[in-house]
Amino acid sequence: MKHVCIWGIAALMLACTPTKDPVEQKIDELLSQMTLQEKIGQMNQLNGMGMSDDLKAQIREGRVGSLLNEVNVDVVNEMQRVAVEESRLGIPLIFARDVIHGFKTIFPIPLGQAATWNPEIVEAGARVAAKEATASGIRWTFSPMIDVSRDARWGRIAESYGEDTYINAVMGVATIKGYQTDNLADSTAMAACAKHFCGYGASESGKDYNTTWIPEVQLRDVYLPSFKAAVDAGCATFMCSFNDINGVPSTGSKFLNKRILREEWQYDGLLVTDWGSMQQMIPHGYCSDMKDAAEKAANAAVDMDMMSYGYIDHLEDLVKEGKVSEKTIDEAVRNILRLKFRLGLFENPYTAKVENPYYRPEYLETAKQAAIESTILLKNDNNVLPLSNVTSVAVVGPLSNVGVDQIGTWCFDGEPEKSVTPMQAFQQLENVKVIAEPGLQYSRDKSQAGINKAVAAAKKADVVLCFVGEEAILSGEAKCRADISLPGAQSQLIKELKATGKPLVLVVMAGRPLTMGAEINMADAVLWQFHAGTMAGPALADLIMGKAVPSGKLPVTMPKMVGQVPMYYSHKNTGRPASNITLIDDIPVAAGQFSIGSTSYHLDAGDKPLYPFGYGLSYTSFEYGQPVLSDSVMKQDGQITVTCQVKNIGKYDAYETAQLYTRDLVASLCQPVRQLKGFQKVWIKAGETATVTFTVKPADLAFCHEDMATYAEPGEFHLWVSADSQQGIPVKFVLK
Ligand code: NOJ
Repeated sequence: MKHVCIWGIAALMLACTPTKDPVEQKIDELLSQMTLQEKIGQMNQLNGMGMSDDLKAQIREGRVGSLLNEVNVDVVNEMQRVAVEESRLGIPLIFARDVIHGFKTIFPIPLGQAATWNPEIVEAGARVAAKEATASGIRWTFSPMIDVSRDARWGRIAESYGEDTYINAVMGVATIKGYQTDNLADSTAMAACAKHFCGYGASESGKDYNTTWIPEVQLRDVYLPSFKAAVDAGCATFMCSFNDINGVPSTGSKFLNKRILREEWQYDGLLVTDWGSMQQMIPHGYCSDMKDAAEKAANAAVDMDMMSYGYIDHLEDLVKEGKVSEKTIDEAVRNILRLKFRLGLFENPYTAKVENPYYRPEYLETAKQAAIESTILLKNDNNVLPLSNVTSVAVVGPLSNVGVDQIGTWCFDGEPEKSVTPMQAFQQLENVKVIAEPGLQYSRDKSQAGINKAVAAAKKADVVLCFVGEEAILSGEAKCRADISLPGAQSQLIKELKATGKPLVLVVMAGRPLTMGAEINMADAVLWQFHAGTMAGPALADLIMGKAVPSGKLPVTMPKMVGQVPMYYSHKNTGRPASNITLIDDIPVAAGQFSIGSTSYHLDAGDKPLYPFGYGLSYTSFEYGQPVLSDSVMKQDGQITVTCQVKNIGKYDAYETAQLYTRDLVASLCQPVRQLKGFQKVWIKAGETATVTFTVKPADLAFCHEDMATYAEPGEFHLWVSADSQQGIPVKFVLK
């Protein structure tokens, strides 16, 4: 009887013990067979370009967990063979690459993708990128970059989804979904990497790698939510940022990597350093040498070392000396193996040959659509665009025919010769004669020798299309500018073209907002592209000729002057918001100290940007009705529905993006003047009205408090549904 009872209890206990996830079981089994050296080997990521005997030996000895940058599928498979067949435990490698906005078929840079305000096209682009890259053996990309970026001087603004927290979250999630799909083990799925964790976009003076100071409240309200959204979307990996944040380099930050990422968010993915960022804790002045750096990174729960050799050279000693526990090592290796299991690499380590993997017609079509939707119409005086009754166009400007520049930064694998440039696209049109003359050789070209020829071309044409902006090399990592005006003699070119009296259409192709109010003033119409990729040319031809209607909107504020940055729509109101603005030239001579008032603005720039966040025109016009709320009172456990009618009052069927903003009028911590809480891109036929509907919940109104708790405070709120961040009349509601 006694025995029966004991067995009965044991059986009951067994039945009650939750069965361990099969992947976790496999990890346990493998981990139990690994030596300390093999575990540390998994934590080592090396540059794998080319196949040397030395690298093969390291793989064979189990001293490498991942390689980055090799994209020759035969080399990838051979290195994988060495790992799987010749290393003791046969643990496969993961091959990684920066596939940032396309692999071969290049999509708009992320800032341009955000300008589409269309997560579906962003997801579709990421899917294409994953299909192309996985055909080359790449199963891990270092994207999306979801650093909120509010400083146009910072070159990496190009790689971000702009200044807004919500858009970074939405577009980041869309990108992750496109790369990973629902099944990471699918051979065309690629692990995403949310980067850079965290606060990198806040670098002082917009200079790359620079210090950041971010109060925890701001970190939680502005910089962390996009990363939390990435965790919730199942993003397989995270990357540390280069910057120090409040004095601690991210790679050594227990606060970021342990407390927030692992403890608060329960993240079980892989955290990798940025390239050499472990080593860089020495020049940061945070670590005395590489051993110290390896210790701090490991104890800050960083799983994999990208190219610092810190773990491989020092972790074993650190464990022996008791400075890093074997438990810490096991945790890191678990995270790495988990990814390898989730990617199905143990079952299918090799990359199968794919027929015709790149630049498929449907990929190019998706890229073209993304480029169209990313293009922002900033100005269109007298409806110059779309062109009609035009038989000849002058195609001028340094960016009119340069494949490498239109694809933008971070295109390691994109081939410039595959770009279809604006000039090529116009040359393919029937019934339009193209008179081409660049005028300047490249965007920084200061020689004015060619401008006369461009002017002569302009005089012969009905309309001038002038392609200006920045070469690709002027934005991206470490490509920061203190002066964000049009480089070279481009202003002069525009001035002389304007003097011809011909209608002047400016097309700007850039990696960041530029301060070019004067040049925009000279133009009749302006189309703006954040480097729009392989198909930028055909997209522009369709837009300019009216086969497509612009629908892009700015995901960043366009400042008038560089001195205004950082400039973003969701700023605080201040105690003296701008009013009664007197600009510098209007101040009377010898004016008294307070004669022109005392409010918050710049004497030479006022308080407005050149164009606000969310701004973008169409060939048609839209009329917004007043938002209607289901209730003017929201309960803490309730929600309200907001509807708004948007009427297309012009002649073209087109997309419009209606934007939902809120403001907490009085709170225990001052809140921004507006915050984006939702948007909807809707297709509205000419003359028709669409109704957009949003749901607003207390969670949407929550902010971080001094005690770090995030919740919404009761009180009065404003709400807008508008075409951009400055338009619309607010309606009130109350949170009870
Ligand atoms: C440095 C960059 O900061 C990061 O974004 C990139 O993914 C790595 N290098 C790898 O190339």
